[in-house]
Amino acid sequence: LPFFTSALLFGYLLGSIPFGLLLTRAAGLGDVREIGSGNIGATNVLRTGNKFLAVATLLFDALKGTAAVLIAGIWGPDMAVIAGFGAFIGHLFPVWLRFRGGKGVATYIGVLLGLLPLGVVIFAVVWLLTAAVTRYSSLAALICAIVVPVALFLLGYIQVAELFTVMSAIIIVKHRANISRLLSGEESRIGDNG
Ligand code: G3P
Repeated sequence: LPFFTSALLFGYLLGSIPFGLLLTRAAGLGDVREIGSGNIGATNVLRTGNKFLAVATLLFDALKGTAAVLIAGIWGPDMAVIAGFGAFIGHLFPVWLRFRGGKGVATYIGVLLGLLPLGVVIFAVVWLLTAAVTRYSSLAALICAIVVPVALFLLGYIQVAELFTVMSAIIIVKHRANISRLLSGEESRIGDNG
C-alpha cells in the first residue's frame, strides 16, 4: 500500500503541472483560461494564435504522463499504471489551480505512450482522420476516447484497456460543454480562433 500511494502521488504531482498555463503566461500572452473555451490545454493555447506554444503544450502535457509511467515503472508494471493514472488525474484536478485543470487528452496520449506505444498509433490515426474531416479537436478526442479502449480490448491488452476505459469515461465527462456545443453547432473549429 505505501508503494501504491507513493506512485499515485508521484504521478499526480507530475501531472498537475499546468504547462499550457505556464507557457502562455511566460510568453506574456496573459491567462489562457480567459480566452476561447477557458481550458488550459493545447487546443485552447492554439486560440492565442501561437502554434509553437500549442505544440509545446501538447508535448509537455503528454510527456509528463510518459515520464510518470517510465519512472514509476522502475518499481514494476503495476506502479507504472498507477502513476500514469495519477498523472492523468493530476492534469484534470491540479491542487495548484483549485482542482480546475484540463480535459486530459494530451496526458492520456502520454500515458499511453509510456505503457503501449502501439496505442498512440491508433490514437493518432483516428484523431488526425477525424480532425481532417471535421476540424473539431474535441470531436476527434471524443471519438478516440471510444475507439482506443475498444481497440486495446480487441488486441488483447486487457489491463491497459481497463485503465483507458476509465480514463476515456473521465475525458468524455470533462468534454460535456464541448458535446453541447457540438450538438448545437457552436463548437469552434481548429483554425477559427475564438
Ligand atoms: O483536448 C481538449 C480538446 O478536446 C477540446 O479543447 O479548448 O476546445 O475545449 P477545447
